[in-house]
Amino acid sequence: MKFNTMTILGTQWGDEGKGKVVHFLSRDADYIVRYQGGNNAGHTIVINGSEHILHLIPSGILERKRCVIGNGVVVDPAALYDEVALLRRKRFDVRGRLFISERAHVILPYHKFLDAVKESSQKIGTTQKGIGPCYGDKYSRSGIRMCDYLERDTFAELIDRNLAEKGPVIERFGDLAALRRRMLAERDRYARFLQPFVCDTTRLLIGAIEQGKKVIFESAQGTLLDVDFGTYPYVTSSNPITGGVSVGTGVPPWYIAKTVGIVKAYTTRVGEGPFPTELASPLQEQLREAGREFGATTGRPRRCGWFDAVVVRHSIRVNGITELVLTKLDCLRGISPLKLCVAYRYGSHTTLTDFPASRKVQRTVQPVYIETPGFTEQIRGITRYRDLPASIKRYITLIEKHCGARITVISLGRDRNETIFK
Ligand code: IMP
Repeated sequence: MKFNTMTILGTQWGDEGKGKVVHFLSRDADYIVRYQGGNNAGHTIVINGSEHILHLIPSGILERKRCVIGNGVVVDPAALYDEVALLRRKRFDVRGRLFISERAHVILPYHKFLDAVKESSQKIGTTQKGIGPCYGDKYSRSGIRMCDYLERDTFAELIDRNLAEKGPVIERFGDLAALRRRMLAERDRYARFLQPFVCDTTRLLIGAIEQGKKVIFESAQGTLLDVDFGTYPYVTSSNPITGGVSVGTGVPPWYIAKTVGIVKAYTTRVGEGPFPTELASPLQEQLREAGREFGATTGRPRRCGWFDAVVVRHSIRVNGITELVLTKLDCLRGISPLKLCVAYRYGSHTTLTDFPASRKVQRTVQPVYIETPGFTEQIRGITRYRDLPASIKRYITLIEKHCGARITVISLGRDRNETIFK
């Protein structure tokens, strides 16, 4: 049986413009599902000129679709509460349309606190939302899940155990007893709010897929931030790759029919870590301004660089990507020539065509570029592929050739209508 399902994920370091793509591909979908990450993500969606930023709830909520937060997501109840309140103010009611896995792990204040403590020595450039420490607890088997959070006595017992374990570190920075009181009081308030949304989302999704419903799985971060396949340790603590869908939702791997990769026409990353094609100023600033490259969650300026086909080929391989959606092409206007990295040089004799695992190699490789003429024409507003200037078509063809996948959709602006189906 062929299921009506797809994964949509970022092929670079995140911020590829997934929000817009998921939003328009979800028009005829029944369910939109998050399977990893937490409120470290930020999807900016523009509808009729008005901007919406969502961190936890899939952007399909704006299309009044059913949205699922899977067991692989880590949920900060306070952040979710604020997001639901914001949506209500904008007249998007989530009642009966938001489902949260009873197995999803909960981010608690001490996770955020420990994130900040670790960041002061490790310097990953995290979003400081408590993501790493929460996943750390999950895998060391001391995590607190939604179903535990909803049971007051279970929750009280588990936080006492966890605070005893983490107490010495937390006490160096704050008052443990006050933190415990605050967490118990917050739990009472948020548990009432969360209760109607929490359920067995695996059962819900498998049932929907078997009935032929269209289900979209949406990644939060890009493949190069994947804890296994990214630029470790400068990664997030979960698996945005398509393999993460099954563990993060309980839906069997063979229920996922295809994987669409979102790729930005250039490269960006936030936070620390290797970035072989990073630009020097002033081109870096020019691209940042043109692409409004500032973090949706933290407001930090994103680092900007040339398109890197080595990175995207790596993503295509580990995700089994069948088609690409190219975004933010319009932001390259006025930059000429355009460069594409097709391989890396390591030392004086080695050429690498695969993304390396070694942190030393990642840090020291030199990009091998090809060049192609840029464009000065205004391309926003163009809706047919054949109307694009020849230099842009050449750039697109080079990306397809060096990445080894077809580009089926091209995004030329932030609004949903600024899209070409190739
Ligand atoms: P964490 O996920 O907050 O632990 O941060 C780990 C790394 O992932 C840092 O470099 C963050 O900047 C990066 N990161 C996390 N979420 C996003 C995102 O949504 N877009 C881009 N980078 C992200």
